[in-house]
Amino acid sequence: MIPTSVAELAYIELGVSSLSDWQRYSTEVLGLSVKVDNESLLLKMDTSIWRIKIVETGEDDIRCAGFKMVDEASMHSMIEQLNNAGFTVTPASNDEATARQVEFLVSCQDPFGLRIELFVGDRTSDLPFVSPQGVNGFITGDQGLGHIVLFVADEQAAIEFYQNGLGFRLSDHITMGPKGRQINLTFLHCNPRHHSIALAPVPLPKKLNHIMLEVTSLDDVGFGLDRATAQSTPISSSIGCHTNDQMVSFYMKTPSGFDIEYGFGGLQIDDETWQTTSYDKPSIWGHKGNLN
Ligand SMILES: [Fe+2]
Repeated sequence: MIPTSVAELAYIELGVSSLSDWQRYSTEVLGLSVKVDNESLLLKMDTSIWRIKIVETGEDDIRCAGFKMVDEASMHSMIEQLNNAGFTVTPASNDEATARQVEFLVSCQDPFGLRIELFVGDRTSDLPFVSPQGVNGFITGDQGLGHIVLFVADEQAAIEFYQNGLGFRLSDHITMGPKGRQINLTFLHCNPRHHSIALAPVPLPKKLNHIMLEVTSLDDVGFGLDRATAQSTPISSSIGCHTNDQMVSFYMKTPSGFDIEYGFGGLQIDDETWQTTSYDKPSIWGHKGNLN
């Protein structure tokens, strides 16, 4: 039987030290539209009501990842699949579902304490996305908001949860890092986006390594790099092209210390023909900095 899979990484919630720093960074560097709502920031990047919620908790880390299920039937099989794999699923209250603006919401925890929410519902709004910096748009839709890369202390436990529990499919692996301290990253997909999640087996107190946002043109990557430089945003990794998803991107520090990858041209996977493989370096060219 084909495992049930989540459909897309629909939203994430971040806990940060300074809402005002994030408001400035999101507006002036990322080019996202920002709504201040009840002591939180709601970042909009497409027709979804919001894709990133930011609250001031001081964690400077990810607090929650929200995945869309295509329909109620797939939600029920997902709950059964998670239970069978040994993971506890908790129904959300009506208030919690209303706060996320979804019809049906449940939650569970990944093996490292990250809250995972699964929902059924349409989170699109009538309001179009208008970038305060003139970004033409972000590649989202059924590919979700982009991707996240998580630090995981136990690779096997992570794979058990994300592949056997949530139904992610293996895209490929990259071995990277200095000799003697190399790590093997696992890239997983749940829709045509090459990966919605990647797992870095490094035992760190923080959960989030980076978030990737994909713009709709190479020019918008360049304009993003210009804005980051003009705002003195630290560039963690120069512009480059990844070996596996062929994304042309650069990495910059957020006010919370983790990175945002800002890119264009990510490969899309057709599961009918996809062959998994392993790469021995993260980038074809560029990405000089902390990746190489
Ligand atoms: Fe990435």
